[in-house]
Amino acid sequence: MEENRFAFIVHPEDQRHWLRILRHLQEEKPKRSLDYSDPFHLVTLPFLSNGKATVCDVILCPLLPGEMVADEATAISKILKSTEIARKRGAHLIGLGGFTSIVGNGGLEVARQAALPVTSGNTYTASSVVKAIIMASELLNIDLGKSCVAIIGATGDIGSSCSKSLVELFGEMILVARNDQRLEELAQLLRSKCSRVSIEKRAAKATRIADVVLTVTSSITTLIEASDLKKNSIVCDASYPANIAKEIKTLRPDILVFEGGIVSSEQFVSQLEPAVLFWDFNPKGGMHACFAEALLLTLEGKFSTYSIGRGGITLEKMREMTELANKYNFRPIFSWDGRIMKRALGHVPVSERHSI
Ligand SMILES: NC(=O)c1ccc[n+]([C@@H]2O[C@H](COP(=O)([O-])OP(=O)(O)OC[C@H]3O[C@@H](n4cnc5c(N)ncnc54)[C@H](OP(=O)(O)O)[C@@H]3O)[C@@H](O)[C@H]2O)c1
Repeated sequence: MEENRFAFIVHPEDQRHWLRILRHLQEEKPKRSLDYSDPFHLVTLPFLSNGKATVCDVILCPLLPGEMVADEATAISKILKSTEIARKRGAHLIGLGGFTSIVGNGGLEVARQAALPVTSGNTYTASSVVKAIIMASELLNIDLGKSCVAIIGATGDIGSSCSKSLVELFGEMILVARNDQRLEELAQLLRSKCSRVSIEKRAAKATRIADVVLTVTSSITTLIEASDLKKNSIVCDASYPANIAKEIKTLRPDILVFEGGIVSSEQFVSQLEPAVLFWDFNPKGGMHACFAEALLLTLEGKFSTYSIGRGGITLEKMREMTELANKYNFRPIFSWDGRIMKRALGHVPVSERHSI
């Protein structure tokens, strides 16, 4: 049977996550050596679609986000080693997961040196985040034209494309990041679409007045606490690791909070074994949109570098990824803390939103 192969590079989210993965690996292969300092093949995922097999080799790059940021040279060298493992296993395309697409100027360094085309998955992440925010707002009857959105990490690759896409829908937009100049440049660009675009360096100040909050930063720590949010607001946290304190769900039942960039297609999710290590990196029943982007490109035989660097995501590319996602029945889903929310979001009284 004809087979298309791609690879996806993952990394542990934090120390606890890393220990959990190591425990699983020891249970699966008790005799395996404990030296996990170099990247290694974690698991192979086979998918069947329209009579064609598509296979993904998941490669684990054993670095935490903080380690990658602190020593980019080592991170790039280990990511390149991961791409070599992928090449030897027959991949035609490589998806860069999490921080492997942030270091080295948004993955550009890796793309320049890797023997295979790569994608950060940021285009589909951005389009699925925008769609999820619109879906959540519609279901809770929020009038976007009269609402304020705060985008934390607005000048980043995903943040800037979401800002450009959302600016025409909202009555007011607050762009948040640390670098003034990049913030002002983006704000000037967006002011032709919406007169009420402002910039802010203090995330908590923006989130206290925003009706909708999107966090999509490369910060490795929590940026927003439960008390920093406006009553009854919607919060979409697309950052990995998360930027929103996990306790928000219990401390603020008035807030609808969910992870952004999580998508699902029954056709593909149902083909994954329930116990496979893939679920240690994705909420069970869903997958990160960056993984889905690499899968979709492979299904279409598009083996060229797609999303890479910063600022290259156009609205046309976002539309192209949305169409591709629709073709294979992918849609954004709502999850929090690794668990899919059970109930549909519609018609839920504010007082019950926390139990969705
Ligand atoms: N769900 C998914 O499938 C998926 C897919 C891809 C990526 N992601 C996640 O999305 C996030 C963003 O990725 P990206 O590629 O867009 O990153 P990026 O291009 O590096 O952008 C990061 C943004 O965060 C800002 N930032 C960093 N630290 C900050 C802080 N402490 N406070 C406020 N702003 C801060 C940066 O601006 P300044 O430096 O000026 O502050 C920049 O605007 C990452 O967490 C990544 O892991 C998720």
